[in-house]
Amino acid sequence: MCGIFGIITLKPRAIGRDLVAGGKRLSYRGYDSVGCAVISNGNIDLRKDVGKIDEVSKTLNFSEMHGDMGVMQLRWATFGAPSKRNAQPHLDCNGDMVGAHNGNIVNTPQLMEQFIREGHTIRSTNDGELCIHAVEKYYDKGHGMVESIRKAYDDLKGDYAFIIFSNREKRLYAVKKGSGLVIGIGKDEMYCSSDLPSILPLTKKIVFIKDGEIASLSYKEVKLFRISDGREIEAKIVKYRESPEYAKKGGYEHFMLKEIHEQPVVAEDLVELLDDSKYVDKFLDVMRGSDKVFLVGCGSSYHACLVGSYYFGNIAKKTVIPVVAPQFISQYGHTVDDKTCVVLVSQSGETKDVLNALNYAKGKTDKILGVMNVIGSTLMNSSKVYLPLAAGYEVSVPATKTFLNQCIMFLYLAKKMRGESCEDMRKVSNLIKKTVNSTDGACRKIAAYLKKWDELYSLGYGSTHGIAKEAALKIKEITYSHCEGMYSSEFKHGPLSAVRRGYPVLFISSPKDVDVMVSHINEVTCRGGRAIVIAEQSESILKNASELIQLPHSNDYIAPILATIPAQLIAYYMSTGRGINPDFPRNLSKTITVD
Ligand code: G6P
Repeated sequence: MCGIFGIITLKPRAIGRDLVAGGKRLSYRGYDSVGCAVISNGNIDLRKDVGKIDEVSKTLNFSEMHGDMGVMQLRWATFGAPSKRNAQPHLDCNGDMVGAHNGNIVNTPQLMEQFIREGHTIRSTNDGELCIHAVEKYYDKGHGMVESIRKAYDDLKGDYAFIIFSNREKRLYAVKKGSGLVIGIGKDEMYCSSDLPSILPLTKKIVFIKDGEIASLSYKEVKLFRISDGREIEAKIVKYRESPEYAKKGGYEHFMLKEIHEQPVVAEDLVELLDDSKYVDKFLDVMRGSDKVFLVGCGSSYHACLVGSYYFGNIAKKTVIPVVAPQFISQYGHTVDDKTCVVLVSQSGETKDVLNALNYAKGKTDKILGVMNVIGSTLMNSSKVYLPLAAGYEVSVPATKTFLNQCIMFLYLAKKMRGESCEDMRKVSNLIKKTVNSTDGACRKIAAYLKKWDELYSLGYGSTHGIAKEAALKIKEITYSHCEGMYSSEFKHGPLSAVRRGYPVLFISSPKDVDVMVSHINEVTCRGGRAIVIAEQSESILKNASELIQLPHSNDYIAPILATIPAQLIAYYMSTGRGINPDFPRNLSKTITVD
């Protein structure tokens, strides 16, 4: 999803290089075009095009761009096709103001018409350009920049953040409404970006901007203004200690493979963190004291909610309702009251659908809990109590280690809620390691067969339902084939008609559900289908499966976590076998900051 990165410095220098580096740190979000604008001697130098940051920045020589203020933007197309003219940043009519946004201006068609009617020079069909004209409209009438942004804020509907500056003053301005925006304070320079991790390599002194605030930056000071009344407010500086571990493939061909192999370590880190955390009890107290609990997430995080709901129901005997975030308001919104607990689950902590659910719930209950990976994210800052996933930086678009840690977190919490010992959770890391090593060969082999098929199913039962859906999502995301993940009992109610000779169906079973799974496996194999089973070894599975990808021995609750690993590896090898880069699949973005 779009990312913006701005810099203002004391003295003009080749800031293009730092803007590209900042942009690269945002590239995990997914994008289709890249642009960079700097001000040098009062002139705006703007370069942009469709393509990847490495190519575009090389062709257009971003690193030679010289100046004392600049902005870099990575665009993921929503309004306007990916093209050079729709790429950001954008200029105002006279070309003396420039800026770029992240997010969605939902009244784009109306505003576009209005600005054209008012005589503005509109050069693209992209909503980001409207942010610049919306500010220009008031600035050219003599209002100051802060005042112009305040007025533009009312005109621009939707959720967004943007950075803007003019060649008439040496200040960089930024505003936040629903999308991420943080400020970093450097030595004789300031940074402004869509996320915290992209700034941390430059400085550990951070100012978080809240929705409805404008930042006015010089090279040495941050001034914050409240949109509602224009008053200046205090800019609180937070000091971070740790550095994010930055994106290096460490000898692996792709980040995804590296991140799969990191799972034993991050699982261990998470269990240690939970063992030592005083927030686990606080988190559980809020859940316990609630009549209703929802687990809310999107994509992989939602699948972890399905697994979590199983754990809480079966282990802690607590009903928690898993719900895909965009459905939360329409389906359950009216039932939310002050005895309702809403647990929002997100790798990034910035997914728009999740934040919508959060903002809705906030008006009705203070029992808002967060589970996220990105420290400093909006979700973290808005939760009553939060628990971090401690998975480190995840670069690859398909979630792997963060999903696994979400499942581990829920298992841990369910056991704790039940009053059970979490001692055996310390063994999980080693079991994950064993699984990665022992299943890799079989996964490569089976992926070579599966990559020839453009469709398949992934079925689970009980605790493995969420895992089967996650396996299907991984395959869809990075192989561009259709894979449907569903409850294995449902397969006979329609999808069974797809089965023919060799037709692949993936089954994921926990030890407890082997008998019922064997019956579902037979529905496929007796019709010539190929049943590829991820499970522990058992006589009946060996007798009935076409193939077994064998999990190390664990228990009914840990087995689903382990089963995720061969599913990830199968998707990975299918993807690379088709010549796809699984780290950055087409059309997808790691952090979806639009509705
Ligand atoms: C995007 C990503 C998915 C991810 C989902 C939720 O769609 O491509 O891989 O699962 O967002 O992201 P979150 O950061 O909220 O977990």
